[in-house]
Amino acid sequence: MTAQGAFITFEGIDGSGKSTQARLLAQALQQAGHDVVLTREPGGSPGAEEIRRLVLEGDPDRWSAETELLLFTAARRDHLEKTIQPALAAGKVVICDRFADSTRVYQGITRGALRGKVDQLHTLMIGRDPDLTVIIDMDPATGLARAKGRQGVEERFEDFGEEMQHRMRAGFLALAQEFVDRCVVIDGARAIDTVAADVTATAKAHLA
Ligand code: ADP
Ligand code: TYD
Repeated sequence: MTAQGAFITFEGIDGSGKSTQARLLAQALQQAGHDVVLTREPGGSPGAEEIRRLVLEGDPDRWSAETELLLFTAARRDHLEKTIQPALAAGKVVICDRFADSTRVYQGITRGALRGKVDQLHTLMIGRDPDLTVIIDMDPATGLARAKGRQGVEERFEDFGEEMQHRMRAGFLALAQEFVDRCVVIDGARAIDTVAADVTATAKAHLA
C-alpha cells in the first residue's frame, strides 16, 4: 500500500456483486477504524456523474467504442482529480466500484480491439493504478440474471447479452494474470456473507 491511504477497486462482469461487496467492505473497514470513501465509476464526482448519464443511457449504438473510451477516460480524470486523489492524500481508504480494468475489458476487448489506445490514454491521462483489485468472478448466466433483475434505465451495456459476458469474464481473468501483484480473484457464486468474509480478509491482509 502507498503511505498515503490505500486504493481498492472492484471489477467483474455485470451483476457479479461488485456494488454489494464494495459496500460491505466499506462497512467492515469503517468498523475496523479506517476512514473510508466509497465511490464508483463511471461517476464518483459531479462532473463524472454527468458523463455517466451520457454513456449508460440511450441507444446501444449511440457512441462508437473510440468515443466511449474518451468519455470514460474524461469521467475518470475528473473523478481522480476531485475525489480519489484528495482522499488518498488525506490518508483515507478509497473503495471504487469499477476503474480502469473495466475500460481495458469493455472498450479494450469487447467493444472494439482498442487495448493499445486504452493503455496509452491511461498512461497519459490517469497514471494511477489501484493498490488492490478484487475481481469478483462468476458464471455469466447467473450474473446476467442478477443484473436484469435490477430494472433501470442504465441498460446500454447490459443489452449486450450472455455471449459478450463470457468474453468479459475471460477478459477480467486475463487481467488477473497480467497484473498479478495487485489482482485477487474471488468466487462470487456463493452467499453474499461468504463472499464478503473472503473480500474483507483479503483487504485487511493488504492493509496490514
Ligand atoms: P454488480 O455491481 O456487480 O453489477 P450488484 O452488487 O449490484 O452487482 O448485485 C446484483 C444483484 O445481485 C443485486 O440485486 C444483489 O442484491 C444481488 N447479489 C449480489 N451478490 C449476490 C450473491 N452473492 N448471491 C445472490 N445475489 C447477490
Ligand atoms: P456499472 O454501473 O458498474 O454496472 P453493473 O453494476 O451492471 O456492473 O457500470 C455500468 C457499465 O459501464 C458496465 O456495463 C460496464 C461499463 N463500463 C465500461 O464500459 N467502461 C468503463 O471504463 C467503466 C468504468 C464501465
